[in-house]
Amino acid sequence: MTKIRQVTEVVTPKLVMEGAGVLLYRSISPSRQNPFDPFLLFDHFAFNDPTEGVNPGFPTHPHRGIETVTYILEGSVRHRDSMGNTGIIGPGEVQWMSAGSGILHEEMPSADENGRIHGFQLWVNLPAAQKMSKPAYQEVNASKLPISQFDGFSARVIAGSYHLVAGPVSDIHINPTYMDVFLTSGETFPFDAPESHTVGLYLLEGSVSIAGREFSEAGLLKLENGNRVEVLGAGNGQSRFIFISGLRINEPIVPYGPFVMNTAEEIQQTISDLQKGFFIRHHG
Ligand code: FE2
Repeated sequence: MTKIRQVTEVVTPKLVMEGAGVLLYRSISPSRQNPFDPFLLFDHFAFNDPTEGVNPGFPTHPHRGIETVTYILEGSVRHRDSMGNTGIIGPGEVQWMSAGSGILHEEMPSADENGRIHGFQLWVNLPAAQKMSKPAYQEVNASKLPISQFDGFSARVIAGSYHLVAGPVSDIHINPTYMDVFLTSGETFPFDAPESHTVGLYLLEGSVSIAGREFSEAGLLKLENGNRVEVLGAGNGQSRFIFISGLRINEPIVPYGPFVMNTAEEIQQTISDLQKGFFIRHHG
């Protein structure tokens, strides 16, 4: 039986400072309650105020037990890590980095010729069995991200598949769907989401109506209690949103800064590994 998911939570992003002094809009961050399991963090960065000066970025820092996903709309981000991976991603491009047992990386944004930097970072949890796995890195160029035109909307598919369009990011445990969707007013974006999956929608532009409720403020919506998503374009013109869906892991988590493990002992171990030089288990 088809049951339409409803919005059960509306998260208004908060302005926070991260890295070496980067201002960004944070919707969720890791917590033991883990309400968006398997998604841990969602940041929207948009540094477009010339008075902010040089963007200081995210100099070398560690991660363990999670995956970090960067998707850029404007400007670029340079990535370099302890596995020897390097790359610069620009508009419409993606990095999906699985930290596994431990990685050190830096993420340094640069503005485009109009002084703009705009994008997202999503953290995805790893199940206990994969937290100490070998790190992995996938980088996808804009030319490889399929943009599919449907009746009334278009979708850029980053991960997962949508109506036979498969995104290029693969082999991710939580079976994610990550899409950038443009929706025309009066048209409907449908998505069949199993009950076992968490679904989130980050409204970026315009207005949408979900199960009879209209939303027009930028922010993260949680859609629950059903097996089908229907998003109706509302207001005048086009709306745009980031759509995420993934299999819940249903394990306790203990977050500590850039680490997310399952127990306090594993966090202690992580800190001890860092102090004693055992943090990096795998090199490129
Ligand atoms: Fe990072």
